[in-house]
Amino acid sequence: MSAAPSFISHPDEHRAVSVMNRPFPLVDKSSTSALRQAESSFLDTIVGRHGGLRAVLSQVATVAPTGATVLISGETGTGKELIALAIHELSPRHSRNLVKLNCAAIPAGLLESELFGHERGAFTGALLQKKGRFELADGGSLFLDEIGDISLELQPKLLRAVQEQEFERLGSTLTIEVSVRMIAATHRDLPAMIRDGKFREDLFYRLNVFPIEIPPLRERRDDIPPLVNYFVSTLSRRMGKQIESIPEHTMDVLTNHPWPGNVRELANFIERSVILSGGNELQVSTAELKASQSRVFVAASTFEQAERNVIIDALRAASGQISGRGGAAERLGLKRTTLQNKMRKLNINRAEYVIKHF
Ligand SMILES: Nc1ncnc2c1ncn2[C@@H]1O[C@H](COP(=O)(O)OP(=O)(O)OP(=O)(O)O)[C@@H](O)[C@H]1O
Ligand SMILES: [Mg+2]
Repeated sequence: MSAAPSFISHPDEHRAVSVMNRPFPLVDKSSTSALRQAESSFLDTIVGRHGGLRAVLSQVATVAPTGATVLISGETGTGKELIALAIHELSPRHSRNLVKLNCAAIPAGLLESELFGHERGAFTGALLQKKGRFELADGGSLFLDEIGDISLELQPKLLRAVQEQEFERLGSTLTIEVSVRMIAATHRDLPAMIRDGKFREDLFYRLNVFPIEIPPLRERRDDIPPLVNYFVSTLSRRMGKQIESIPEHTMDVLTNHPWPGNVRELANFIERSVILSGGNELQVSTAELKASQSRVFVAASTFEQAERNVIIDALRAASGQISGRGGAAERLGLKRTTLQNKMRKLNINRAEYVIKHF
């Protein structure tokens, strides 16, 4: 695999967000105002900064310069990879490599050698020496995507590399030291995986130094119109089409749709709509939207289950306390009354989570 980090390909070629082809001119790092300008132009390329993504982007701006490990969570297609890139781009390491590894895409047996590299002859088929992603990311950042898919067997080795910043290539006894900024992402519920014995608690806490949670699109509907405008204008320009308006009714339908596949699904839907639109107006297939909506009902039962798990986790952590400092409502970022309503609906009894001291 190549050492050069080829990163996100975005629908808009004008904001090609690859490390090799950065979206803003290189700036003199000694000049604070130039850096600030670069930061704002990068964040400008992410749609939603005035709406639902505002809190996420302010977390990005806070954590990016610190070098702290970041754990990004969110449903599929919410923009986890985009946020990982933003963290690297706004960090002092931005002129160095951002190396990415999708832990779900590599067969379990090969993941260890992808992470740490191997010596020639370390295993059958290891014909040449190979550097791993930790080594390639030295001085820069390592983005481990789908971290929840890493096997229990490999987790202690990853913990050591993240914590001690040292490891050995497979087949070697030589310890290699690196300086790597870690960014991890997952769409899985890691606390639930810990409960089920599928994810190590120590690794979770080591990665969860600065958690960033990207809300699903249905919980930030005010981002939908700017995203639609953005995708329509960039995609129609690319396809040489002249779509000048989006009927109000169409925008309403798009805004109220639940988008189970989040921004990715929206972008793909708009791409198909732009291809199919004949005139100057965006035409959308409402039949396709209905089909997508029915998929949400299938997901709803698991969503309810997920909601239930999250509430129970918070109640456990707060020893059954709902309101006040450290209470479950504060932990979940909900109003006390909202949490109580949800608990009633889900039939969750607070008393079961009160820890009694004898
Ligand atoms: N706020 C945004 N502004 C512009 N484009 C966005 C935004 N959020 C996501 N996208 C685009 O939507 C697509 C999906 O985003 P991304 O790949 O970052 O999601 P993800 O959370 O990593 O998804 P998955 O869990 O499936 O890997 C990408 O093409 C990305 O550029
Ligand atoms: Mg991703």
